[in-house]
Amino acid sequence: MIWTGKALSSCATFLFQTWLKSPILKMITGHVQKAMKEFAVELEKVAEQLLELLCENLGLEEGYLKKVFYGSKGPTFGTKVSNYPPCPKPDLIKGLRAHTDAGGIILLFQDDEVSGLQLLKDDQWVDVPPMKHSIVINLGDQLEVITNGKYKSVLHRVIAQTEGNRMSIASFYNPGSDAVIYPAPALVEKEAVNSQVYPKFVFEDYMKLYAGLKFQAKEPRFEAMKNMETIVNLGPIATV
Ligand SMILES: [Fe+2]
Repeated sequence: MIWTGKALSSCATFLFQTWLKSPILKMITGHVQKAMKEFAVELEKVAEQLLELLCENLGLEEGYLKKVFYGSKGPTFGTKVSNYPPCPKPDLIKGLRAHTDAGGIILLFQDDEVSGLQLLKDDQWVDVPPMKHSIVINLGDQLEVITNGKYKSVLHRVIAQTEGNRMSIASFYNPGSDAVIYPAPALVEKEAVNSQVYPKFVFEDYMKLYAGLKFQAKEPRFEAMKNMETIVNLGPIATV
């Protein structure tokens, strides 16, 4: 989707959001399109390298996470550029309400100067300060499920600022729409097989649920997918 200069009541403006394989990319022309494509190709590589590191850390076979994300059509990759203008009364406005991201791995270029991003750690909101030439890596709900909770998706929010205009570029490396998401068997304790916390589902079904529940806790979403799992027989898992 593309939003141009569409101010939201939350005091955030989404300049544009594009998915590499989307025809919408054709609406961005010339140098900008070329730069966006090159940016996406390179960042997708970084995301896949990070997935490999996660595999290594968890003792999963090489390429496991990439394979699970693949589905039948490959992963999806998108970039969203956001603008948070200064707000004279930030106490009355929420920049971006607390949520966990739905997808896989998120690579965020923050504004070099204006802060606002916070994450929840040990029940405390912690600032993620601007840091030049760095990428903030965030994990989404899908990685929490696949890693059986070894990695958690992190609750985060953006606080409106009285001064300065904050811009950010977030890129999302997500599973393909028909990818089947479930805890990696190698990470499930044998004795815990019958008391699994995390469900098995098709990614696009999760996204349909997430669309209406983004700003709510993730646990009820996992629970709802679990209930759906008992109704729908997912059949054999195809990860390639
Ligand atoms: Fe987010």
